[in-house]
Amino acid sequence: MNNTTLLDGLFKQSQEKGKEYLIYLDVDRLIAPCYDAVSQTPKKPRYGGWESTGISGHSIGHWLSAAATMYTVTGDERLKEKVEYAIDELAHVQSFDETGYVSGFPRECYDKAFSGEFEVSNFSLGGSWVPWYSHHKIFAGLIDVYQLLGNQKALDTVIKLSDWAVNGSKNMTDEQFQRMLICEHGGMNEAMADLYLITNNRSYLDLAIRFCHKAVLDPLSKGQDELEGKHANTQIPKVVGAAKLFNITGEQHYRDTAIYFWNRVTNNRSYVIGGNSKGEHFGPENTEDLGITTTETCNTYNMLKLTELLFAWEKKAEYMDYYERALYNHILASQDPDTGMKTYFVSTEPGHFKVYCSHDNSFWCCTGTGMENPARYTRSIFTHDEQNLFVNLFIASTFSSEDDQIIIKQETSFPESNTSKLVLEKASEDHFDIHIRIPYWAQGDVTVLVNGNTIQTSNQNGYLTISNQWNAGDMIDITLPMGLHIYQSKDEKSKVAFMYGPVVLAGALGREQFPETDILDDHQTLNNHPLINVPTLVTEKDLTEWLKPVEGSPLTFQTEAIGQPGNVSVTMIPFYALHHQRYTLYWNLMNEEAYKVKLEQTSTEVDRLKKITIDSLQPNEQQPEVDHAIKMDNSNSDYFNIVRTGWRDARDGGFFSYEMKVEPDKEMYLVVTYFGGDRELWIDGKAYPRDFDILVENTNIAHQFLEGKNPDTLMDIVYPIPYELTKDKDKIEVKFESTEGKIAGGVYGVKIVN
Ligand code: AHR
Ligand code: ZN
Repeated sequence: MNNTTLLDGLFKQSQEKGKEYLIYLDVDRLIAPCYDAVSQTPKKPRYGGWESTGISGHSIGHWLSAAATMYTVTGDERLKEKVEYAIDELAHVQSFDETGYVSGFPRECYDKAFSGEFEVSNFSLGGSWVPWYSHHKIFAGLIDVYQLLGNQKALDTVIKLSDWAVNGSKNMTDEQFQRMLICEHGGMNEAMADLYLITNNRSYLDLAIRFCHKAVLDPLSKGQDELEGKHANTQIPKVVGAAKLFNITGEQHYRDTAIYFWNRVTNNRSYVIGGNSKGEHFGPENTEDLGITTTETCNTYNMLKLTELLFAWEKKAEYMDYYERALYNHILASQDPDTGMKTYFVSTEPGHFKVYCSHDNSFWCCTGTGMENPARYTRSIFTHDEQNLFVNLFIASTFSSEDDQIIIKQETSFPESNTSKLVLEKASEDHFDIHIRIPYWAQGDVTVLVNGNTIQTSNQNGYLTISNQWNAGDMIDITLPMGLHIYQSKDEKSKVAFMYGPVVLAGALGREQFPETDILDDHQTLNNHPLINVPTLVTEKDLTEWLKPVEGSPLTFQTEAIGQPGNVSVTMIPFYALHHQRYTLYWNLMNEEAYKVKLEQTSTEVDRLKKITIDSLQPNEQQPEVDHAIKMDNSNSDYFNIVRTGWRDARDGGFFSYEMKVEPDKEMYLVVTYFGGDRELWIDGKAYPRDFDILVENTNIAHQFLEGKNPDTLMDIVYPIPYELTKDKDKIEVKFESTEGKIAGGVYGVKIVN
């Protein structure tokens, strides 16, 4: 953490709010699932949301990492006490299992996996929902508590737990182990690598290496991007672990993997705010496909971790440019300043809004990483070694060297102002180089004055270097020319966002038809909430001619009346400061002529569909399927690049079903999307026709036969649902059922409309 603390400002305020939530949380409730897992009675009931599902226990892990980190950066003793109590409790729970197992769910899934005979899919192992993913958070939490607080019991506990993993998996063949890794497993390779560094015990390094998922990492190490259609947050931690393994083993392929992946994700697969993924998955390269379930916040937490590791290898401004973009525009933007609650997805759907978790009944994955984020704000402001101090970010803070012999204060109200002042509070004829990042967004020369004088600097890798002998009282004044600029999306010239320096500006669109609350137990609740129309910006003028600063309101801008239809003017503010109202990040910007053409072409079909859709679901996307209570037997799912969508089918007597919302007292229709090219499938010389039944509430409502008559496109088929099956109901079960020798699906989308 390099001994940096925050001074008053944006990040400090957000950190304080984040700390409040860490203090609010009740350790006994967070640990309750761990008691349950070893058949002991918890002291208090577990929390709701995901903590009441099979992924439980991930939150105590995140909380340990967050609270230990927050303690080191704020010194708040309440956190230390709580952390120590939590460690005592986890060690106590561990004493009930002779193998050293401690986790938020029962051990059986691992017993199955370790036997070598187990069921596995992307999100399920031995019948449990992503066990290693959830468990990894506890490994990481214990390691963090040891590293940050020197708590020996935390180390003892994680050693016992890791020995359980080492011993349990030792009889698995490499093939079985790799098969196990098909299921999301968080950063298990990273945790084991970290533990090896602490203990020097080779068996943890061996396990870290075994936890490297070759099917994903090998192509990356060869510079092959096979990311399209892959679940994003499953892959990023694997690469973080690979980067750590390069540090330990020096094996080049790990480093190649990390650098290639980072470049592909940040340059070809990210949105303007620095986040990635839609529906949790990587889409086609160089697209910024807008929607409600874009830019999962966990992913950016993990990308920042990866960026730090790469920056440690090579001090390039490019890394910190990305870090700054993602930190201000995604991470800082993801916490509600009023309640301290966190986002899961950050919607890029024009006219939508942020949705935050609730205090006690969400505990989504991003609630967990969201607990950690505010404690991590200080991490990359400064980085240093013996001879060099890098000033990467312009955030009000104080840096102290480990021996406390050098203290440097960074005074700034950036990004509200475009200056920053470094004050050497403690130094005595110390000779070292200070490197100041020249951000990619600087509109002109970054200037630096040392004690009021222009001095000689050199420029390397995007940093201005000042070599000097530093003394207390020395001052460096930095000026960063900032201005408005346009971000053009990767897939459409006219789809743009607006930025001021590193800050993404969002249209502040008010609270028209705003939901009663945007703090939700279930993040999906408002996915079908009505949208509003977002104006198209129609002008040919240069940006600064029509987007003007609002006097007296820093970082607030107003457009001329160029919003169409209706000649409206829009206010734009930093996305990080925009909460509890509708917004847009991406705009359509075009000239009069293009606008006229667009008007003519715009089909009302899409709008109509949005208005009539009651519920919708994307097969093969984990969270939507879980949230629609998927049930299945002999069912497969995958992503199909040609149509860039996921599908699910069921074979040979198998089925899959979802719970879908309906509205009582209205006629409902089921709309199913199929791939028009789908026809019988040949498996081992035998043809399996796609010939199946569709049932609603166990009543057969249709029979479908797919003959491949519309190659290369998706097609929708509408099935009326008999009224008596939906009246008085708010949910129905929709089931796709195959018979022996036949296939149901593939189904590429399911909707209920009226
Ligand atoms: O599956 C566990 C976590 O939940 C994933 O990493 C995240 O994408 C998901 O929503
Ligand atoms: Zn998440």
